[in-house]
Amino acid sequence: MQLSIIGTGYVGLVTGTCFAEVGHQVICVDNDANKVKMLQAGGIPIYEPGLEDLVQKNVAAGRLKFTSSTAEGVQNSDVVFIAVPTPPQVDGSVDLSYIERVARDIAAALTSYKIIVDKSTVPVKTGEKVAETIKRYCTSKVEFDVVSNPEFLREGFAVGDLMKPDRVVVGVASPRPAAAMREVYAPFNAPIIVTDINSAELIKHAANSFLALKISYINAIANVCEAAGANVQEVANGIGLDERIGRRFLNAGIGFGGSCFPKDLSAFIKIAEQIGYDFKLLKEVQRINADQMERFVKKITDTLWVLKDKKIGVLGLAFKQNTDDVRSSPAIDLCLRLAKDGAALRVYDPKAMEKARPLLPNATFVADMNAVAEGCDALVIATEWDEFKQIDLARAKKIMTAPIFFDGRNLFDPAEMEKLGWIYKSVGR
Ligand code: UDX
Repeated sequence: MQLSIIGTGYVGLVTGTCFAEVGHQVICVDNDANKVKMLQAGGIPIYEPGLEDLVQKNVAAGRLKFTSSTAEGVQNSDVVFIAVPTPPQVDGSVDLSYIERVARDIAAALTSYKIIVDKSTVPVKTGEKVAETIKRYCTSKVEFDVVSNPEFLREGFAVGDLMKPDRVVVGVASPRPAAAMREVYAPFNAPIIVTDINSAELIKHAANSFLALKISYINAIANVCEAAGANVQEVANGIGLDERIGRRFLNAGIGFGGSCFPKDLSAFIKIAEQIGYDFKLLKEVQRINADQMERFVKKITDTLWVLKDKKIGVLGLAFKQNTDDVRSSPAIDLCLRLAKDGAALRVYDPKAMEKARPLLPNATFVADMNAVAEGCDALVIATEWDEFKQIDLARAKKIMTAPIFFDGRNLFDPAEMEKLGWIYKSVGR
């Protein structure tokens, strides 16, 4: 099929590339001409495992093109996907101005029947607004259908999540676009849930809120474990083997971050409020998440007493492993919090150093993970990168002023660490 994707951020670029990989003809549109040039030259503006090779392969095969002209994308495709940002506003609601702008651009470019699919995360009822807008601004008065098709991509695993989805959700108002969407997704061999547009939009917010709730739940359990002298990982294993609960997303730590969970939670709470429901449960999920960071900082200050003039090594800056994304990163929040109390920071991340640099202007960025500990009063793990488990602990201990270790992601075994002579504090154990 001929497809176009408006917006080449994480979602748009991964979606467009994977659609090309399964054989569709894809045009990706972005209004940033520099980005388009970079992509045309085989570069990619983000770090996402496996993506760069796939982009180059599909560009070479002639299935993937980039342009800054929305009209070119729209007029050369049967299905147009909208994948533009929906950033949060100060009151927690979502800024839909990019979506509205693109809806008008699409309307102006329509010359024949198209299916317009919203992939961006939007509040329920946005599909209705997009349809209204296109109808109002489309001078050619051709027919079109609007579809909601939320994405469920995790950064760092986005290619895999798209190529092998657990499910594909398609919200439609009539059978014609449903048939076309089945054709788009046929090569992925995934269960397809066809529903109404409002339900599809709601599924996205309900899914992300539930996952955030799961994390806050295990963090709350971690706090009870600390008070009771129990081990949250054992509890997570014990409850996670119950298939109704599941072990995934039960890792306690310094809380969730990223460009999705915090924003989607606030947006969902706001929409619920606007339509008359006070979603207190989700407000508590937010509160526990914020509190989790404060509790961790307290562990550090309880041990180090005064942070002023202390040197602290921080491993991890990205909001989670396998990404260079530092948006709403708990690791960055932690660094800022420690720096505010006067600590001097030595920091390292396998992928996120460049993106973190402007956010932490006073920190020392260290290129080698094993050199971070040099002269430090304590080491802190802030992101769950697997490779931190390989850190040379013997060397770290030698080059630090004291062997103090705060593990915000529970990567190490407490008993082992104590045996090796570390003063070791983690979360819920
Ligand atoms: C999330 C959803 O998982 C994805 O389906 C959706 O489409 C977009 O939002 P993402 O933001 O990429 O994806 O990251 P995710 O892997 O969900 O992690 C989010 C945050 O939760 C990270 O900060 C991570 O460190 C934290 N987390 C995750 C925990 O603290 N504990 C866990 O057990 C799992």
